[in-house]
Amino acid sequence: MTNCVQSWPEPVIRVQHLSDSGLLAIPERYVKKPSDRPIFVPASPSAAAGGEVVNIPVVDVSGLYSGDADLRRKTAAEIDEACREWGFFQAVNHGVSHDLMRRTREVWREFFELPLAEKQMYANSPTTYEGYGSRLGVEKGMSLDWSDYFFLNYLPARLRDQNKWPSPPVSCRELVEEYSKQVVELCGKLMKIFSINLGLKEDYLLEAFGGEGLGACMRVNYYPKCPQPDLTLGLSSHSDPGGMTLLFPDENVSGLQVRRGENWLTVTPLPNAFIVNLGDQLQVLSNAKYKSVEHRVIVNSERERVSLAFFYNPRGDMVIKPAEELITAEEPPLYPPTTYDQYRLYIRMKGPCGKSQVESIKSPQ
Ligand code: OGA
Ligand code: NI
Repeated sequence: MTNCVQSWPEPVIRVQHLSDSGLLAIPERYVKKPSDRPIFVPASPSAAAGGEVVNIPVVDVSGLYSGDADLRRKTAAEIDEACREWGFFQAVNHGVSHDLMRRTREVWREFFELPLAEKQMYANSPTTYEGYGSRLGVEKGMSLDWSDYFFLNYLPARLRDQNKWPSPPVSCRELVEEYSKQVVELCGKLMKIFSINLGLKEDYLLEAFGGEGLGACMRVNYYPKCPQPDLTLGLSSHSDPGGMTLLFPDENVSGLQVRRGENWLTVTPLPNAFIVNLGDQLQVLSNAKYKSVEHRVIVNSERERVSLAFFYNPRGDMVIKPAEELITAEEPPLYPPTTYDQYRLYIRMKGPCGKSQVESIKSPQ
């Protein structure tokens, strides 16, 4: 399904090229209102005092496949706890080739380093968002984020069109294909564990997503250097609208922040780890036992940052609603049934808006 808007409401500015122009002050359109600006102070007083710095949970996924039943249970319990309490965890020993991960990220860095004219051949529109883009949302005059991106579809296979993926760089298409294949496999394993952890049959979530017809797409985010990083954001606060996201960040440049109550926690990425986070559809299916948590990206004046965000989503026409097995008299369904196509129109039109969407559809209790 597509949405009805065919083109951007105003000329698109490539943030990377704005950054390269050497400007000292960012245009007004990128300046966030004071309450949304990042605050460059340590996340907690204990961190300032040299105490423990809180990070999102780290899970060694290989424990799920250990010969030791206790370790398997312990690992599944760690994932369950992370899904309930954080909506985020870092997965290590996840089975995806580290070399492939690095090569895929580097080939995307090369893409963004190509001359503007070569990238413009892939310029996207809000009809499908596929291609080279610089904004989310179509409202004229809306606040803009300090980033460019490349968005592509991998699944369902009928939406996969390699001609829309960059070439050059020469190995880009091949790497994206193999990377996506391995990441989809990992997502499938995690979906089984989430199902079992929720007390559902192991294929429940996969089937709810439409089985073979489920969706997978990738957004490569490019956050250029910014002369006034304290005034703007690389990506405004949002929760991911889909099922789950596997993020491969730039290990050398942090930027992702996760909301924890009133605070924003800056994630320290571990080498070769995926940052896994749950999207709104898993919050709905689990009737809010699992949380999709708000996150955002801050930028800096020293280094650009590249991240690969892989989204694993329900098929567009699947009706997503809380699993009946999780509904009781005390815990009625919190959300009405909605197709994913319908659901994602909101972020595609309005851009990132915190958790306003999943909160707004909540049924009155
Ligand atoms: C996203 C996202 C975070 C990052 O693409 O949805 O949250 O660190 N990305 O790039
Ligand atoms: Ni996100």
